[in-house]
Amino acid sequence: VGAAIGNDLAVLGACRRIVLYNRGLARAEGVAYDIADATALLGDVEVIGTDDWGDLIDADVVVVTVGHSIRPGESRLEIGGNDDLIRHVVARLDEVAPAAVVLIVSNPVDVLTRLALDCSRRPWQRVFGAGTVLDSARLRRSLATLLGVDPQNTHLHVLGEHGDSSLIAWSVATIGPVALTSFPLPEGETLTELKERCLFRTRRRGGAEIIARKGYTDDGIAAAVVRIVQAVLRDERRIFPVSTRALGDYGVGEDAVFGLPCVIGSQGLVRRLPLALDAEETALLQRSAAILNAAYEPLAAYSE
Ligand SMILES: NC(=O)c1ccc[n+]([C@@H]2O[C@H](COP(=O)([O-])OP(=O)(O)OC[C@H]3O[C@@H](n4cnc5c(N)ncnc54)[C@H](O)[C@@H]3O)[C@@H](O)[C@H]2O)c1
Repeated sequence: VGAAIGNDLAVLGACRRIVLYNRGLARAEGVAYDIADATALLGDVEVIGTDDWGDLIDADVVVVTVGHSIRPGESRLEIGGNDDLIRHVVARLDEVAPAAVVLIVSNPVDVLTRLALDCSRRPWQRVFGAGTVLDSARLRRSLATLLGVDPQNTHLHVLGEHGDSSLIAWSVATIGPVALTSFPLPEGETLTELKERCLFRTRRRGGAEIIARKGYTDDGIAAAVVRIVQAVLRDERRIFPVSTRALGDYGVGEDAVFGLPCVIGSQGLVRRLPLALDAEETALLQRSAAILNAAYEPLAAYSE
């Protein structure tokens, strides 16, 4: 995932300098040299492979993809030692790049983002997770195809866990300026059928289906991460459902961390956006928060 993000950053000319850190120098350099090969054809970007944390000094954004990845059939809530890696990485980043915006991608992303928020000395606005950004992009593409509109005009978010307990905020979905509930549907189709078809398509193309076939996911998440990085570097104030604390909104308590729509800019997370969810969606979000809180419990005990 880290290598794919590095490549997309270079191809899109998203930044001037890309530092690929890995515990193995040869691996980091191999990936960096490969990406750097084409930069003369693409634009002016410096690509460095390193095993020295010091090379991350003055980074504007750090994307964390370290760790055990999900194997076929495994739950995303499997922590598999990634908690220790995140503690270690956050401590090093606090030393070398205390002003950077830190974006957690490693899974379970919501649990590990909460851990990073708890361990890091940087302001909470500067630590958030990739959340349900990719899940929402998949869903928006399905809905856009079914309605025959541009995905950019589908304003619809997957909320909660990046995983099985996520939910779709259908009640507040809009297509351009029109509420989904009053948008003209394809001939003979009801909104319930449309939602079911959309869910089926989203699930069929979901991460588990890709892992079952390809063995891992990297391209989709890389493009999603690069869009978030661009929003920070260009201070775009673009809205993404990133992992952050809900801070008591939706009746989920003060601690839960999960995907919620937020404005992202150069300072990191600029603002959380409140959603007027219906009762059923609120209950589903509370369930997702409870599942994530339970997954965090052993990590909290370890930190005390
Ligand atoms: N949030 C999302 O939507 C999303 C999508 C895809 C992947 N992911 C997550 O991103 C992470 C990386 O996935 P991947 O497919 O790139 O995995 P990978 O195995 O290809 O790469 C993991 C990297 O972590 C490093 N690493 C592993 N254990 C280490 C240790 N003990 N000490 C130091 N370095 C160590 C490896 O050297 C490697 O560079 C996983 O946690 C995966 O689940 C998240």
